[in-house]
Amino acid sequence: HLVASLEVEETYIMIKPDGVQRGLVGEIISRFERKGFQLTGLKLFQCPKELAQEHYKDLQSKPFFPKLVDYITSGPVVCMAWEGVGVVASARKLIGVTNPLNAEPGTIRGDLAVQTGRNVVHGSDSPENGKREIALWFKEGELCEWTPVQEPWLK
Ligand code: TYD
Repeated sequence: HLVASLEVEETYIMIKPDGVQRGLVGEIISRFERKGFQLTGLKLFQCPKELAQEHYKDLQSKPFFPKLVDYITSGPVVCMAWEGVGVVASARKLIGVTNPLNAEPGTIRGDLAVQTGRNVVHGSDSPENGKREIALWFKEGELCEWTPVQEPWLK
């Protein structure tokens, strides 16, 4: 069971190349917006091989690693930074578990994906990795700190 975090956190969310190719960009961004999180970074980006390898470095010994790197670099991705109370675990819940077969209907992977190797979206698995991945994928000046007028309703 997830333990509620009261901390304002940041997480790195990425729409993978299959999500872009299938025209799911708007659908996926909508889910995070409607939940109540705040977008602080957004770009369409062709990921170089070295960056994909660095992003997934904890998985480099896995047999699926080369295919994973090929997949992530096969076309443009949408890179996003999202901020909010408990956003790391909450985004993982919106995304659903790694294998779309086991992801609950109502989650992004449960509703929109079929295979583990084409699971349309990435979300950081800890606040530490959220910070690490945002720093890895965004340059200085690409992120935007802004105060939403609805802030008191959501934080
Ligand atoms: P992982 O970090 O375990 O999952 P998640 O994306 O849910 O945090 O794995 C990273 C990605 O690696 C995963 O989204 C899809 C790919 N992958 C495979 O292709 N095969 C596998 O068996 C696993 C576990 C992951």
